[in-house]
Parts: sequence; C-alpha cells; structure tokens
Amino acid sequence: MPEETTGEVPDLTREELEELQLDRLRDTLRRAAGVPHYAAAFRAAGVSPDDVTSLADLARFPFTTKADLRANYPFGMFAVPREQVARIHASSGTTGKPTVVGYTAADVDTWAELMARSIRAAGGRPGDLVHVAYGYGLFTGGLGAHYGAERLGCTVVPVSGGMTERQVQLIADFGPRVIMVTPSYFLALLDEMEAQGFDPRSSSLEVGIFGAEPWTDEMRRTVEERSGIRAVDIYGLSEVMGPGVSQEAGETQDGLHVWEDHFLPEVVDPVTLEPLPDGEEGELVFTSLTKQAMPVVRYRTRDLTRLLPGTAYPAFRRMAKVTGRTDDLMIVRGVNVFPSQVEEQILAVEGLSPHYLCVLTRPGNLDELTVRVEAAGTPDPVLGETLATRIKNRIGVTARVDVLAPGSLERSLGKARRISDQR
Ligand code: DLL
Repeated sequence: MPEETTGEVPDLTREELEELQLDRLRDTLRRAAGVPHYAAAFRAAGVSPDDVTSLADLARFPFTTKADLRANYPFGMFAVPREQVARIHASSGTTGKPTVVGYTAADVDTWAELMARSIRAAGGRPGDLVHVAYGYGLFTGGLGAHYGAERLGCTVVPVSGGMTERQVQLIADFGPRVIMVTPSYFLALLDEMEAQGFDPRSSSLEVGIFGAEPWTDEMRRTVEERSGIRAVDIYGLSEVMGPGVSQEAGETQDGLHVWEDHFLPEVVDPVTLEPLPDGEEGELVFTSLTKQAMPVVRYRTRDLTRLLPGTAYPAFRRMAKVTGRTDDLMIVRGVNVFPSQVEEQILAVEGLSPHYLCVLTRPGNLDELTVRVEAAGTPDPVLGETLATRIKNRIGVTARVDVLAPGSLERSLGKARRISDQR
C-alpha cells in the first residue's frame, strides 16, 4: 500500500524551502564539479561550489545548453559511473544526435514521487483508473506518468500513443477517471469518440493532465467544453527530469507550481542572459537540486514564461503557461509571432477547429505566413477571412489562411507539429 503521505506537497514555509534549496544547491554543485564539462566551465568562470553562501550566488555560475549535452554525447554529462545508471531516456532532436539523460535508482524514485505529487495536485487520487496515452519509450512522457500513477496507488492503463480507435474503445470499456496525454492527441481522441457516436461528455473521464507541448487557455476552454473534463497543465523536460517539474493545481487552474524543493527556477533575458525579476517574461532556466546521475546547472530550457507567487501551495512559486519555445518564434516581416498566438485567434472564430499548422515560405524576398486550419464542419472561405482579419488586427501580421476540410491535416500521436518552415 502506498504510504499516507505519498504525493503530498511538503508543508514548508518559504524560508524553510529556501534553506533546503541552499543545502541541496551546494550538494548539486559539488556533484556537478565531478563532471569534466562542469569542472572546466566552473574553472573558466572562476567559480567554485565552496564559495556559495546564498541562493543568489548561483547567478555567477555558467549556463548549460543543449549544445553542451550534445558535445558530451552520449554519457559524458553523467556524474556517476554508467553502471550506477538505472535508466536512460533521450529526446530526439530535430537535427543531429539525440540528447541523452540518465537516472540512478534514487532518481527514478524521486521522479515517481514528483509525478505522484503532480497527479494528486491535478486532482487524481489513489484508486483512480489512469489512462496513459503519452508515448512509452525513450520519450519521458509515458514512463514518467506510469511510475507516478503507480506510486500514487492508481490503476494504470499503459496505452501509449497511437491506435486511436482502440484507445476510444478502452476508454469506453475501462472507465478511466484520469487521462494523461498531449493536448493535441486528446483532440484526436475527442474527434474519434464523436466519429464513433460516443459523446465525450458522457465518458467516465474527469481529469486530463496535458503537457509536453504548448497549449493555450483558449484550447483549455475548447477541450473542457467538448469533453466535460477538467484540463490541467503539466510541464517538464528530459534534461531536467521529464514530466513533473511543475504542475498546475486542479482546484485553481492558474499556472504551474514549480516543485522547488527539487528544481531551482530562474527566468533570464534570452538575449543578455541577465536574471529577470519575478513577473517578467523571459527564458526559463533550471538547476536540479536532487538529481544524482545527471545534475544540471543553470540549464537553458529555451521555453518562455514568467515566475509568479504561489497560490494553491503558497511556498512554491508558479510559472505561467509556456508561451512557446525561442526556437518556435516565427519572425514574419519583422513581427514576432508564436504559434500559440495564432491558436488563440483560431479558437476565437466559431466554425474553426483547433487543428492547424503555420507554414512559412519566402516566395520572393519576403517571408509569408500561411495558416492552414481545419473547419469544424463545411470549410467556408468566410471563416478564413475572419481569421486573417483577427490575426492582422491582434497580432499585427498579414497571414494567408487556408480553411481545410475536417481531417485534412496530419494528426500527431504525441507532440503536435505547429510550424512547417519551407524557407
Ligand atoms: O515533453 C516531458 C513531458 C512529458 C512534459 C509529458 C509533460 C508531459 P521533452 O520531450 O524533453 O520532455 O520536451 C520538453 O516540451 O522544453 C517544452 O518546450 C515542451 N513542453 C513540455 N511541457 C510543456 C507544457 C517532455 N506543459 C519540451 N507547455 C519543453 C508547453 C511544454 N510546453
């Protein structure tokens, strides 16, 4: 039986939390200093773990980037002998080699605990049936969700992604209360339910724990209306652990509480890399506080967000919904646009569906943005004109809009592709 306290958020004051962070930060930096990459980087920056007397001292340490992980492919960032690594995951970069991450048995245990905490914060409870449709394998989504749900004392259905028809059958037959899946694949499941004549609002599902890709509050409203579930956001990245770095509380649905007893967040200006005060948007940076196999020091996530004070768990700061990745910034004739901004406008037009793709081309010397979006029913060109006008007025860019028949765009089984850059 899981213990009474499994998945409970520690009852700490902010001061107690910061004391714990400082202790753990010193340990982490010492551990990291045993990795040749960090030893060299610390030396070059003239810093030593022994000089750290406050959390603010972290700002003197160098950043770590995905390029550093790639340069040390596959196991060069490990702080323990490979024999002590119990699990490997990897994220498939779009170019070149994947980013490899490792976990000791203790790391896997911490991860399970933080995922149990996340599922509970979202509204899951021991005894719930949990349908896991995140991909299983090198991707951290499936196994991360799986171990957490088991740890919490749930009944786990490890479906992984794909075979959409069968997923719907299993939901109808098994009656899960919780589903863990990317928001875009959940939309594909909703479409399939409706195609099978199964009203999603009549399903057993009550809680959806959605992450691994950006999704807007407008998407939340659409999904909640169509399915009758409560949709909550979960965030994480392989380099820092996997899912469960931060989690939105189901009762407040107001951004994601960072589990700051295990991860120290900073937000920095993406250009100057200067730390920004809480409340200001910039690039999210994490330092792990308890990881053994692969500690990360000031890892630049490339995700844009801001830090906010805690609400449901007052000692733990929240991060706002991620606006996008710096890599996904589309600069169209000098105007910065993220797919999430386009998504907000699409969902404001009645008659359009949330299935879309932003296509970038450069027919002459100038960039062009075409938004390919499926209609909910018959594709009416007026819908396209309405959307183009909204995009022009609210985002400030001229976009062509192609309104397509339902089902025209490729569905992803995991993370949706929102940009096709054909320049
Ligand atoms: O996507 C881990 C994960 C699995 C998180 C399942 C949540 C649920 P990676 O494949 O390494 O790990 O991709 C990490 O995905 O840097 C973000 O850009 C994006 N991402 C993850 N969660 C969210 C979210 C997993 N809730 C990258 N909102 C991150 C926006 C997210 N973007």
